Amino acid sequence: MAGALERHIALVGFMGAGKSALGRQVAERLGRTFVDVDAELENMTGRSIPQLFEEGEAFFRTQEAKATVERLRTAPPGVLALGGGALGSAQVRDALRERAFTVHVEVEPGEAWRRVRGSGRPLARDELDFRALFTKRAPAYAEAADATATGVDDVVLAAAAVHVETGSLARLGELAPAGDAALVSDARVGGIHGADAQVALGGRLVSVHELPEGEEAKSIDAVTALWRALRLDRSGVLVALGGGCTTDASGFTAATYLRGVRWVAVPTTLVGQVDAAIGGKTAVDLAEGKNLVGAFHWPARTVVDPALLATLPERERREGLAEVVKTGLLSGEPLWELPDEQLVRRAAAYKSAVCLHDPHDRGPRNVLNLGHTFAHALEAAAGYEGVTHGSAVALGLLAALRLSGIDTSAVEEILRPEPVHVDRERAWSALQRDKKAENGRVRLVLLEAPGKPVHGVERPEAEVRAALDELIAH
Ligand SMILES: NC(=O)c1ccc[n+]([C@@H]2O[C@H](COP(=O)([O-])OP(=O)(O)OC[C@H]3O[C@@H](n4cnc5c(N)ncnc54)[C@H](O)[C@@H]3O)[C@@H](O)[C@H]2O)c1
Ligand SMILES: [Zn+2]
Repeated sequence: MAGALERHIALVGFMGAGKSALGRQVAERLGRTFVDVDAELENMTGRSIPQLFEEGEAFFRTQEAKATVERLRTAPPGVLALGGGALGSAQVRDALRERAFTVHVEVEPGEAWRRVRGSGRPLARDELDFRALFTKRAPAYAEAADATATGVDDVVLAAAAVHVETGSLARLGELAPAGDAALVSDARVGGIHGADAQVALGGRLVSVHELPEGEEAKSIDAVTALWRALRLDRSGVLVALGGGCTTDASGFTAATYLRGVRWVAVPTTLVGQVDAAIGGKTAVDLAEGKNLVGAFHWPARTVVDPALLATLPERERREGLAEVVKTGLLSGEPLWELPDEQLVRRAAAYKSAVCLHDPHDRGPRNVLNLGHTFAHALEAAAGYEGVTHGSAVALGLLAALRLSGIDTSAVEEILRPEPVHVDRERAWSALQRDKKAENGRVRLVLLEAPGKPVHGVERPEAEVRAALDELIAH
């Protein structure tokens, strides 16, 4: 199972690490419930932790282990903060392995002491004892943890099995799950970054495959060729190195080959790093439309190396920038102003959280369609030629902001959208056919304010049509 998909997220770590505050924020981002196990223990027993401790530490530990294991056995998946000493219990350690994705919230001992001294906690009365306990417990946290974190984005990314790090392509061998590996890329990306990926995979690499470049990869013919060439057994791992076309087609191949093998996405475009390689949607196109056949198949790991963007042509970068601006409007932060690694990290964390919240696209994921209802209509009206997805999204964002009554200057300055030459009637009928239309009424994603998206919004037809018309050149 990839990351914390359908599993609890358990935060472990020393007292004063900030597990409760962090857990609350993570739960809010993922739309999950948060449980502070120590606080719950106090509620259940009607006694405070120091009071429980007065019965002796052994008594307290038994109670704590019982409460923790009970919580870990309860569905649906939530976010749990465990007591600092909970890992002393073998039952807790077993339950964690079985039921949770465990994240070690790291803290410096000095910082932890500053935070908890004078709090009355039974094990935080003397600094030397406190530091000795810190040293004693450290190995247990490291041992139990699937990941380490200091902030919310760290937890969300780890929970989504997304690893963002400059230079991480070289660590692909250790970041990919164990097993024989088949590497898939297109000729261009294979020519630039394929050799590094092969070296990183080393002896595990059993075969190398090529998909056609661009949207042609997303065809059942290309997938059939890949199905037939693969020699992996069910324990194998398919590694997709490339843009969204490569990862969509390879992900679909992995979802279906031998009824499903694990796969690793290594996105090499900005679109891929902030969008396509995250969230588990895989697809191929039909003549009738894009992405009409596919599967939800979450990558076992998404390895994001922002350094790979250095070789990306400017026009491809602009494609991704449109999605970055969209994400910044959704999250309410000017992500586009950040240097690449941070920009990719924050945008990837945003998408990861939304997708973990709604892995099968049943509602909350809709917000990611900000600007896309208009964009899809313009692309369809252009017959998918001459209007790139990024330039259509830039225009769609303009329309969404105008209908939301929000300043459009960021979109205008960063993306410089130009009205497109398409047929108005064609665009309007495409918009009405959009898959988000229910009972013939168009439902939009708009913003109450930057950072406050609302989905399923209906607006009078005339207003929507006027907003679309404004995007089309006279
Ligand atoms: N699954 C999802 O959730 C999701 C989300 C968004 C988009 N998508 C899909 O992604 C596709 C678009 O992906 P894309 O924009 O990444 O395009 P792409 O995969 O076609 O890549 C664009 C071009 O850039 C080249 N390239 C890639 N990385 C490079 C690098 N580092 N250096 C030099 N050249 C490089 C490729 O060879 C290709 O020619 C669409 O089919 C779309 O439907 C999927
Ligand atoms: Zn898009």
